[in-house]
Amino acid sequence: MSATLVRTHAIPGPRPAQAARRLASLLRDPLAAYLGLAAAYGDAIRVPIAPRQYLFLLSRPEHAEHVLAVNQDNYVKAFTYRPLRALIGNGLLTSEGDDWRRHRRLVQPVFSRRDVRSFGPPITEAAQRMLTAWTRRPAGDQFDVSAQLSALALDVVGRALFSADLTGEAPQITRAMSAGQKIAMLATFVPVSWGPRQTRTLKAVARRAGHTDGIEEVVGHLIARRRAEPVPPAGRRDLLDVLMTARPDDGSPLTDTEISDELATFLLAGHETSAVTLCWALALLSAYPSARDHLEAEVDTVLGGSAPTAADVDRLPWTTAVIAETMRLYPPAWTIERDALADDNVAGVPVPAGSTIAVPPYLIHRHPRFWSDPAGFDPARFLTGNQQSAEADERRRPGTELSRYAYIPFGGGRRACVGQSFAELETVLVLASIAQRFRLELTAAGLPKPIAAVTLRPGRLPMRLIPR
Ligand code: HEM
Repeated sequence: MSATLVRTHAIPGPRPAQAARRLASLLRDPLAAYLGLAAAYGDAIRVPIAPRQYLFLLSRPEHAEHVLAVNQDNYVKAFTYRPLRALIGNGLLTSEGDDWRRHRRLVQPVFSRRDVRSFGPPITEAAQRMLTAWTRRPAGDQFDVSAQLSALALDVVGRALFSADLTGEAPQITRAMSAGQKIAMLATFVPVSWGPRQTRTLKAVARRAGHTDGIEEVVGHLIARRRAEPVPPAGRRDLLDVLMTARPDDGSPLTDTEISDELATFLLAGHETSAVTLCWALALLSAYPSARDHLEAEVDTVLGGSAPTAADVDRLPWTTAVIAETMRLYPPAWTIERDALADDNVAGVPVPAGSTIAVPPYLIHRHPRFWSDPAGFDPARFLTGNQQSAEADERRRPGTELSRYAYIPFGGGRRACVGQSFAELETVLVLASIAQRFRLELTAAGLPKPIAAVTLRPGRLPMRLIPR
């Protein structure tokens, strides 16, 4: 089937004459633009983004399942990831083909469900360090929880993956990541093909904004320190060790660029997503006090005053459900995008080769056909059998449809998040640790408006600290 034979005009969406306005709104506020399109045209939409080029905005679970899993061989990371690739390099998140396969095989064992339990101690140590600092604040103190949790998540990644203390570098890395995200978002819908020249220009812009130097410096230090002292301080193999001693396939080690790109990737992918999940969870718990009462009762009963460990997680079903429901409402990776290599039919939607397909978790997780009371915060829907899927919801509430891909905070198919088990362990342990000792109250009425960058951020999040 050739691209010209794929007839797509029956798919609703704005007319080509409106394309410029649509592009401007996608640039300005992509989440609001997606919500506006979905409200106007439904759950399968064709948006012209360049002459004879379309973005398909598809928000049913079967669309996501088809693109991410069933016919994943036909899809590559979308053009929208190219600015990100220019900024953090060709690491696991952005690479394709053999490069990606070699590296995924290499790092996957570090993150197996069984082995991530060994990350329990660095996670809880980092959490306790933050909470001890909070005890020195006066009751009722107000501070920006976003900055605190971002520093905490970076501390966790530093300790767990690189056996390094990154707390001193936290402000520099956070600033660099924020600048990088802003630039990546602005560059995303610039209709150019991303060759080496565009990549150089973007890097130069990012360098001026403080992104690249911040990250390259930290990554360079991590590698230099480990070269000087090859055994990880904790005595166990960490990710840095795996990357630096790897001899994949042909027996030759990874190049310095390959190692640096993976480190930058894990610094970004491994901390920002967990930090925003925890921010949204605390904001939601403040807005829904009965869910917070339930959480406090659970941690008090199960932990009895001791700090939580990885072994406790299975006995914290409500805490786990709070995290799952938080990621339903505010999926950190709020949109997932792919480019089609060949013509395809995505669960009934004809798609020509070269099209970009967005299957946004944010829209799928709030689709009323698959979720009852989709905008409500109800962790109980994730309790049955402790399944983090729409199945639990479906069984208890008539009128909604069953689909595994109705809940995809970690994506799906072979490009699904490699850090899922790590992130689940981390977010549950940190939330339980906080709930044991403190309450945080929103200082403004209502939940913060989400800011859709590479991740879905609450922005600055002032909250009031109440010791329990
Ligand atoms: C709540 C926390 C997290 C969420 C919601 C999340 C979500 C995701 C999603 C949706 C993808 C797939 C993107 C796509 O298909 O285009 C992904 C990929 C990835 N994530 Fe996560 N992530 C989280 C935490 C982590 C952590 C803690 C790490 C590292 C320790 C990590 C490392 C990665 C990497 C390296 C990839 C690329 C995997 C590949 O393509 O092979 N993530 N993540």
